[in-house]
Amino acid sequence: MHILHVVGARPNFMKAAPVLAALAKAGVRQTLVHTGQHYDANMSEVFFQQLEIPAPDLNLGVGSGSHACQTAEIMARLEPVAADCKPDLVLVYGDVNSTMAAALVCSKLQVRVGHVEAGLRSYDRTMPEEINRLVTDQLSDLLFTPSADADENLQREGINPGKIHLVGNVMIDTLVRLLPRCAEHGEVNASRPYALVTLHRPSNVDNGPWLRALLRALAELSREMEVVFPVHPRTRQRITDLGLQTLFNSHLRLLDPRPYLDFLALQRRAAMVITDSGGIQEETTFLGVPCLTLRENTERPVTVKLGTNVLIGRDIPRLNAEIRRILAGETRKTSPIPLWDGHAAERISECLLGRCQTRPQGRKVPA
Ligand code: UD1
Repeated sequence: MHILHVVGARPNFMKAAPVLAALAKAGVRQTLVHTGQHYDANMSEVFFQQLEIPAPDLNLGVGSGSHACQTAEIMARLEPVAADCKPDLVLVYGDVNSTMAAALVCSKLQVRVGHVEAGLRSYDRTMPEEINRLVTDQLSDLLFTPSADADENLQREGINPGKIHLVGNVMIDTLVRLLPRCAEHGEVNASRPYALVTLHRPSNVDNGPWLRALLRALAELSREMEVVFPVHPRTRQRITDLGLQTLFNSHLRLLDPRPYLDFLALQRRAAMVITDSGGIQEETTFLGVPCLTLRENTERPVTVKLGTNVLIGRDIPRLNAEIRRILAGETRKTSPIPLWDGHAAERISECLLGRCQTRPQGRKVPA
């Protein structure tokens, strides 16, 4: 069997790493293509190093562009590569433009498509990622889901249940593997509480008045505790364009994007995380760190239902109220999420090798 993996953006790398490792252990022939959607060393290269991902066999070097241009460029550059390497299956990860572009190219070449992190739905089609999820799942032959709600979403959309495999969360595989190694990567004074912030979604950073209001609320919080803000390149650009740098000081610190282990160390010790990321909602839930999500909805409802995640929406008074609640030590009751156990990639490997033990809703196949 020959498997082609296509990755492109930062959140793909921690999902692909454990799958590549599990398939390598099983002796499967693999080809890794990086689309080049993320190209800065601190958004890509350092993740390959820390996650111990083999160097890509090919980098398509597509870079930035509008959604249509970026997607089209990935498709045009990937098509001859996939046609030439003739894999038995392509694995695509998550919901970024590279994911959907690769699914489109490979399904038209009649290469079977496996989607890792299938079935997540925010039911918000203003998010480009939601469009990518819908298209990718419709085109996929194998849908590897992280949680039971994803299976339900897919079945509601008429996907054949026989294609759906509830395997758990591959991002948590990487976290479980590397958590012991992040101890030496602390970079803030762990004895003082701090809040960790990330923001990059268009809904937050492309709206000037809202971004200004949000940063003012963070400046307010920084009077009580240090606020650490590793900033995505698009967010840094908006802050500069809007002249908002003046809000930052030694208690509200703007950092470059952090490498994986450094960011994990920051998350683990944070008093709270304030974010609009998808994956961070999952990581904080696993780590038991309170997470305030600056979005109206989430494609990861299990983190709200069972985990530490609270949806804040576009509501500064609510953000402040939730911050107060955390500062007062009021904790939410949480439960572990089934199959977020560090072994999701092994279950994917077993499925691909024809020894599948999973069925929709996680029922074991009777022996
Ligand atoms: C992408 C994903 C998003 C994911 C995020 C994580 C899509 C539709 N979105 O959003 O789901 O949560 O990655 O980071 O695929 N840029 C750089 N250097 C880089 C990469 C990007 O400077 O290495 C800047 C460029 O100005 C670019 C902008 O960031 O135009 C946006 O990059 P892009 O890959 O289009 O989307 P993200 O916002 O990163």
